[in-house]
Amino acid sequence: MKSLKRIFSVGIILSSVSLALFGCGTGTSTSENGDTGEDKKYIIATDATYAPMEYMDKDGNIVGTDIDIVNAIADELGIEVEFKNYGWEPLFSAVKNEEVDFAVSSITITDERKQTFDFTEPYYAANQLILVPEDSTVTKFDDLKDMRISVQINTTGHEVVKGLLGKTSSKIVAPESMPLAISEMINGNADAAIGDNAVINEYVKNNPDVKLKTVEDDTFEKEYYGLMVKKGNVELIELLNEGIEKIKANGKLKEITGFDVE
Ligand code: ARG
Repeated sequence: MKSLKRIFSVGIILSSVSLALFGCGTGTSTSENGDTGEDKKYIIATDATYAPMEYMDKDGNIVGTDIDIVNAIADELGIEVEFKNYGWEPLFSAVKNEEVDFAVSSITITDERKQTFDFTEPYYAANQLILVPEDSTVTKFDDLKDMRISVQINTTGHEVVKGLLGKTSSKIVAPESMPLAISEMINGNADAAIGDNAVINEYVKNNPDVKLKTVEDDTFEKEYYGLMVKKGNVELIELLNEGIEKIKANGKLKEITGFDVE
């Protein structure tokens, strides 16, 4: 019994040591002494393959519109932030497991995600956009119903395409990143790629030699991006919302994105 107890307490010590070492502790922005947490650094997960929103510059820095927005929020709040490139699917578990404090990654606020995460107020509006070879006959989303479509896995684009082709359709090509989804279309493995408008437009702009065109469709619903925290982290949501409100009110958000969210 005694030795069992000892093992148990050693276990507790070990796990608190590892918590202290590895836990970046969401919700610890206000410490016991009432300090507002100015020395806390917020760790933020992203998928930096999503130009112009979040991507790596040639020196390996994570940059982009989303990054500028979070930095502007951090400036207003007087908090320190650090971005980490997790990739798309891993960023969701990183938030859930509290490996990071929150995520910014052009994440659309959806009812399904709201079951597992909490979101800030919207800070950016977007919609899906179709990308096809320049000589494609596609003029609307419905034209793709017998075709192969590439999308980034588990994105809202993926959901939209499941709606057209069927949940388990073999015509859906869904790699882990948006650049891979676009490559699948360029390589002829898909007839069209679908994704967030800013990212598709940026690709076309940066690759004038690849003969492509975009196709808009009014049936795509407006989507709103939010910062994503672990469900129940009310303190952090309130803090981030305060920052978003400030950069909406002082014009900084519009200066960064070029448009009003609502
Ligand atoms: N807005 C879409 C969604 O939330 C796609 C976001 C993908 N973001 C990224 N950094 N790859 O599902």
